[in-house]
Amino acid sequence: MMWFNKWFNEDYLKLYAHRSDEEAAEQVKFITDTLGLQRTERVLDLACGTGRHSLAFALSGYSVLGVDLSPTLIEEARRRLHDHEGISASFYVADMFNLPQIGSFDLIVNLFTSFGYFADNEKNEEMFQVVKDHLKPEGQFFLDYLHPFNVKQTLVKEEVLEVEGERVVVTRSLEKDCVVKIIQFPGRTYKESVKLYEREQIEQMMHRHGLIINNVWNDYQGNPWKINGDRQLFLCSLK
Ligand SMILES: C[S@@+](CC[C@H](N)C(=O)[O-])C[C@H]1O[C@@H](n2cnc3c(N)ncnc32)[C@H](O)[C@@H]1O
Repeated sequence: MMWFNKWFNEDYLKLYAHRSDEEAAEQVKFITDTLGLQRTERVLDLACGTGRHSLAFALSGYSVLGVDLSPTLIEEARRRLHDHEGISASFYVADMFNLPQIGSFDLIVNLFTSFGYFADNEKNEEMFQVVKDHLKPEGQFFLDYLHPFNVKQTLVKEEVLEVEGERVVVTRSLEKDCVVKIIQFPGRTYKESVKLYEREQIEQMMHRHGLIINNVWNDYQGNPWKINGDRQLFLCSLK
């Protein structure tokens, strides 16, 4: 079993409770404003988690499919969907590397560092083929991924947090081009390991799968990518 099969559960939700719907709504607004979509398009939220971005897209009128490996997070996404009437969203538990027949999309998003979960480059790169295979000819792909500079610059080696009455110790380290986080709740320990890719490496991977980069931003305010930046937000298309 890989680390990501274990970690994205109720404890993940507790630790990342501050990753809010408001934040997601702002990010989705940036994406939709920038792309100039018509609000009738089909959107695929690849690794949607609890569907915070999917719901924001659906609330803006898009028809959204959210897929995620975690049954716990998909259950939460479906529960949240019930709070909204008349929007077009559905959520499936699925491995993005082995998707069922879901058709093709005008926009595919992969947000909040849901990429780079394997130590193996080829396996990580496979995601771009999945994207290519599910984009309409005029479709676009938006990837929100970490910036290695920022990760290295801000790495907090150890942090002790109080999460819903429990003491949680988070340790971080750099190991073989990965940022590794160990999250210790009382009696249960999780790992998170994300491979650090520079902009050029991501661009090369995208190119190999026929994806053309149209823009790279540093943040959701629309500031351009920079070498000593915070994040890497890529927008690409097939032509
Ligand atoms: C950091 S979370 C981000 C979730 C969501 N995009 C958000 O912004 O809240 C990463 C997500 O990727 C999902 N994930 C990891 N590997 C996956 C895979 N192979 N297929 C589908 N989802 C996957 C995890 O279950 C988790 O929900």
